[in-house]
Amino acid sequence: MMGAPRAARLIIGNWKMYLTASEAVALARDLLPRLPDLADREVAVAPPFTALSAVGAILEGTPLRLAAQDLFWEDQGPYTGEVSPAMLQELGVAYVLVGHSERRRHLSETDLMVARKAKAALRADLKPVVCVGEEEGARESGRAHGKVRSQVARALEGISRGEVSNVALAYEPIWAIGTGKAAAPADVSEMHALIRAELRRLFGDPGSEVRILYGGSVSPSNIDTFMGAAGVDGVLVGGASVQADDFARIARSRQPA
Ligand code: PGA
Repeated sequence: MMGAPRAARLIIGNWKMYLTASEAVALARDLLPRLPDLADREVAVAPPFTALSAVGAILEGTPLRLAAQDLFWEDQGPYTGEVSPAMLQELGVAYVLVGHSERRRHLSETDLMVARKAKAALRADLKPVVCVGEEEGARESGRAHGKVRSQVARALEGISRGEVSNVALAYEPIWAIGTGKAAAPADVSEMHALIRAELRRLFGDPGSEVRILYGGSVSPSNIDTFMGAAGVDGVLVGGASVQADDFARIARSRQPA
């Protein structure tokens, strides 16, 4: 049985560690006039922590939403260097990336840590965008589906049926990130259908309300194809999101007929 229709398309620009605070402010200012009409979609940018406050001030009162790239799972305490959900919420953050493959790889984030972070985000009324995706070797050896299915189940452990509609998933095959080698739209649709089936198995009807984004070398030249691909509810954009023209073009993409 189908659940309620999913929320609007979601497009997030992940600015990674590309920009200082002043550069991020300049990019936000550049971007806003290029995004006049976002009525039917949600668009957000995720600056580095050091730029959240300044970029948040610029976005206030505009349709462009603020996202963060990470958070810690505890609410408060002796955790040097970490940033709590409440700290993000106070700055007007709406979405938070969780479990990006660059953090899994360079900072050894595990599925258990990702699950804790996702739950901590929900406690503070932040919407977690949980990132999953297989390595090249897993795809080549036919293990991509199993790998992603298990990442989804582990990352969402402990989340209730009532909460899950506030979660988004981003399917980002690791070999497609930052390589200019985007996945084939048909393969993306196949993986999104598998993720959807897993969500329904875990959560029943509310699993139909979770948005599933694609990420990995999304660009102005391939965005229309991805937005038109079956089962794609939005995109997570890295490199192209730090070019104002490119990101605006991506954010304004119209699904082809
Ligand atoms: P990319 O990064 O668009 O530069 O491939 C995507 C991501 O890491 O979210």
